[in-house]
Amino acid sequence: MHSAMIGLGTCLPSRLVTNAELAEGLDTSDEWIVSRTGIRSRYWVEPGTATSDLAVEAGLRALKSAGLAPEDIDVVALATTTPDHPCPATAPDVASRLGLGPVAAYDIAAVCSGFLYALAMGHAQIVAGQARTVLVIGADAYSTILNPDDRATRVIFGDGAGAVVLTASDVPGRPGTVLGAHLGSDGAHKDLIRIPAGGSRQPVTADTASADRYFVMEGTKVFRQAVRHMSESATTLLGRIGWQTGEIDHLVGHQANARILGALAGHLDIPVERAVVDIDRVGNTSAASIPLALAHAAGQGRFTRGDRVLMTAFGGGLTWASAAITWPDITPL
Ligand code: COA
Repeated sequence: MHSAMIGLGTCLPSRLVTNAELAEGLDTSDEWIVSRTGIRSRYWVEPGTATSDLAVEAGLRALKSAGLAPEDIDVVALATTTPDHPCPATAPDVASRLGLGPVAAYDIAAVCSGFLYALAMGHAQIVAGQARTVLVIGADAYSTILNPDDRATRVIFGDGAGAVVLTASDVPGRPGTVLGAHLGSDGAHKDLIRIPAGGSRQPVTADTASADRYFVMEGTKVFRQAVRHMSESATTLLGRIGWQTGEIDHLVGHQANARILGALAGHLDIPVERAVVDIDRVGNTSAASIPLALAHAAGQGRFTRGDRVLMTAFGGGLTWASAAITWPDITPL
């Protein structure tokens, strides 16, 4: 049994936040943000909007894109770093609000690699015969965990959601087929990306410093690790599935920094024009980054049915993941 992607839906919050707006309250500038990251704007949720709200909308659109009814889905795998609550998981609520019935629903915590981890799990469940059709969602509302005073993170992250429908397929050459995935981690560097307080290691108490409740990142160290691990993961996957780098039509890397995407293409020896860049308009949307980039590139008419698409991501944990698909005959919504 194989799995194939048959639908894609996305959701961005309505509030557009420009670099100029951020520079009003932080010691930063549009020039610094654009030249160091490639980001020109991002979207943030309004107060009261949660990750699940974005995930439900993206999920609805993915179902419509796939031409499926809610009862056709039997698993929801939701990747997020910003669940609605520390407990319970957000996926069951999303499944319930989508009217999917008593399906299996679970969250995946792999930070910016989360979507590809979830895709790999959905793919594996289908190939193993445990599921027929899986809704894979990456959704994050990072603006809710950013320190308002930290210019190093505040300018980088945006909110959003993307969802893909994977279904069982017995036609190996069908456009949309997931060729394979590669996953990895290195917990020795867990402190490079984290929220110090709020877990069992450092529960929140009345004495918790407010800065410890927010997301922190050692960006320059992360940068080096990101290029290395995405390149190695992608190369391992390509070796497994027998694709040469020259045969890749589109490189869809995690949208963390435009300079990382350029370095990644260089390391993989893939022409930089084949790298999809979406970070300029949405920033780093963490688990939503890859599906948002897929939908954006497809919307621009860059993808043709059957094109070879290599996706690779990197995130806190540290975690990394890659997956390869051929482009399906779908209209992302
Ligand atoms: N505006 C102006 N200056 C800023 C700034 C901002 N928004 N954010 C940080 N700086 C400053 C720092 O304080 C530092 O100043 P110092 O040298 O006086 O200490 C300096 O800029 C660092 O700049 P630079 O050397 O250009 O850092 P960099 O090239 O590593 O770029 C990042 C910084 C964060 C953009 C980059 O490291 C990055 O994108 N890292 C990867 C992030 C990532 O992938 N995260 C997600 C993984 S899932």
